[in-house]
Amino acid sequence: MSSPATATRDVYELGEVPDLGVIPERMLAQLIRPERFGEPRDAFKEEAVHVPELGPHDVLVYVMAAGVNYNNVWAAMGIPIDVIKARMKKGEKEPFHIGGSDASGVVWATGKDVTNVKVGDEVVVHCGMWDHDDPFAVAGKDPMFGPSFRIWGYESNWGSFAQYTKVQDHQCLPKPAHLTWEEAAAYMLVGATAYRMLYGWPPNVLKPGEPLLVWGGAGGLGSMAIQIARAAGARPVAVVSGDSKNEFCKKLGAVGVIDRRKFDHWGKLPRWSDDIEYNLWLKGARAFGAAFWEALGEKKNPTIVFEHPGETTIPTSCFMVETGGMVVICAGTTGYNATLDLRYHWMRQKRLQGSHFANDEQCKGINDLVIAGKVDPCLSRVFEFRETGDCHQLMRDNNHPSGNMSILVNAPRRGLKNLAETRAAR
Ligand SMILES: NC(=O)c1ccc[n+]([C@@H]2O[C@H](COP(=O)([O-])OP(=O)(O)OC[C@H]3O[C@@H](n4cnc5c(N)ncnc54)[C@H](OP(=O)(O)O)[C@@H]3O)[C@@H](O)[C@H]2O)c1
Repeated sequence: MSSPATATRDVYELGEVPDLGVIPERMLAQLIRPERFGEPRDAFKEEAVHVPELGPHDVLVYVMAAGVNYNNVWAAMGIPIDVIKARMKKGEKEPFHIGGSDASGVVWATGKDVTNVKVGDEVVVHCGMWDHDDPFAVAGKDPMFGPSFRIWGYESNWGSFAQYTKVQDHQCLPKPAHLTWEEAAAYMLVGATAYRMLYGWPPNVLKPGEPLLVWGGAGGLGSMAIQIARAAGARPVAVVSGDSKNEFCKKLGAVGVIDRRKFDHWGKLPRWSDDIEYNLWLKGARAFGAAFWEALGEKKNPTIVFEHPGETTIPTSCFMVETGGMVVICAGTTGYNATLDLRYHWMRQKRLQGSHFANDEQCKGINDLVIAGKVDPCLSRVFEFRETGDCHQLMRDNNHPSGNMSILVNAPRRGLKNLAETRAAR
């Protein structure tokens, strides 16, 4: 990796923008180390580390802002996997994790075989990584199913909670020009995940007029799902806890909102042979189904249920989804044991589909919707670099605001949209 001009110091301050393409020896980063695994507020710490080397298809991005996602809550706690140990087992040397799976910034250097971006391009980064020679990618199949697929800034090191991040060329997409750095860093991971969940599993894809249920409608994924559904002319009903989230979801395009605090049948499904417990559960699930009809304004079941809470909600999701419909799930925030009544599942020929992040086309799909102004990043709160642990703690405690959060990395303040403005701002 070569730099066109010489760095004037070993490490630059945050926001002290070097000349385009100038790369210092070291950079500031928010590191997680195994000895700090635990509550996110304590797990992240600012340190100076070397700037990563690039391979032929890699790109070095000067990070202006980074998005906050749940995956680095898990990374900070070291559960369900120790991401550092997992990488070191595969031969990587660094005994630390630089997280961050969303970024906006400027291309600062490129590997020798990169052709799709050049130094100076303003980009957003998606978090899907796979080996260039992965047989799935080479054969033109969905690389999401390939053996080398991994999430940048979670399963890979060198994420966006640092002054520079190392990404693969295909991860870079044009930054929507109308967005600030902090807005542009906020939507890609959740937006692309939601896009694949709603468009990636034919024939169960979004269709105009069709009702769907969106869990956590005011959350990162949910706020994207509502807007993607609205853009398709579908009719999303959002589930939330808390009155303040109703209006938020409606503004995004939800046709109705259900407050989950009014129900108490959550958790694993009782055994079918236990009449009393099972009937109690059924009563709760039916009442929730009736709340869906009321919120929709019509006695119709959702053809898609957008799932991520997992253990506590999946019995209800599988029960209420329409015959031939799909429950699509990308997480198990409340637990990983899924229970469902198979009688309804086979007789009504329902589908329970796992889904994970997105491929290049699906990332472009959400980016195009954002560029067209049809999906807003729903940025609710912006943090300073030193607050990286604090904002992950808010997320861990479910005390974070509706929508998405981001962190200013090299951008010296909010409201800046391009490199020229950013230089002038300091
Ligand atoms: N596989 C993937 O590619 C992928 C991608 C993105 C995210 N994820 C995962 O998806 C999950 C959600 O991510 P996110 O960014 O949307 O998080 P988020 O912004 O925290 O939103 C999650 C929402 O879930 C709702 N919720 C919390 N506890 C619940 C419960 N017991 N029952 C029902 N709803 C509950 C909350 O809304 P209310 O309290 O208002 O109901 C919250 O707003 C995380 O586990 C994350 O790691 C996976």
